[in-house]
Amino acid sequence: MKQRSAITIGKVEHEDAAWKARFLVFYTGLRIRKLGRKPHAYFAARSGEELAGHSVVYFEKGRWVLDELMVKAEFREKGIAKGLTEARIRHVIVNGAKEIWYACEDGNLVTTCCHLRYGFEKICPGSHHCTAATAHWYRLKITPALFEKFPVLDPNPKIAAKKKRATEGKT
Ligand SMILES: CC(C)(COP(=O)(O)OP(=O)(O)OC[C@H]1O[C@@H](n2cnc3c(N)ncnc32)[C@H](O)[C@@H]1OP(=O)(O)O)[C@@H](O)C(=O)NCCC(=O)NCCS
Repeated sequence: MKQRSAITIGKVEHEDAAWKARFLVFYTGLRIRKLGRKPHAYFAARSGEELAGHSVVYFEKGRWVLDELMVKAEFREKGIAKGLTEARIRHVIVNGAKEIWYACEDGNLVTTCCHLRYGFEKICPGSHHCTAATAHWYRLKITPALFEKFPVLDPNPKIAAKKKRATEGKT
């Protein structure tokens, strides 16, 4: 059986030719947003040189938006999508975001597995005309309560670790 390397999750620091080639293969057949000069950060889960999972967060019309979360079939249900979501949320908090958005069809597994758990709520953006049935935008507000509930989202790892120890001490 093929031995797989441990999974590492992190920001794609260099959008170079080697990454781009893997990126294009990873999303083969899917329509992927061209981000051009929009502020953005790609996050990858890697097993050695292989892309196990990939995702992006970009800034558009005053909003940070999570998108393109996908994990390769053979790497699923190991916490990779959660890890990619948490890494992107921390990234935009460091960049000063007070809220984070994403758009998704109702019932999509990406929504149920990896976003709602953090407290994203369905919102009709001010410029849209939608009802609860037709709205596809979700927003997560960054509040101290979020870090209380999910210390892993705190971009300051020292504070996060301290809170985690305090929480564990309570039980
Ligand atoms: C949805 C997807 C991203 C989940 O990735 P993953 O790495 O397997 O998810 P995780 O392991 O982080 O799981 C997160 C949670 O969802 C649950 N989950 C994951 N896959 C599930 C499934 N198929 N059914 C039910 N629950 C599931 C996990 O049990 C976990 O919940 P828990 O923490 O309560 O145990 C992955 O299945 C995928 O890439 N699907 C295709 C998505 C796609 O086509 N995207 C296109 C965008 S361009």
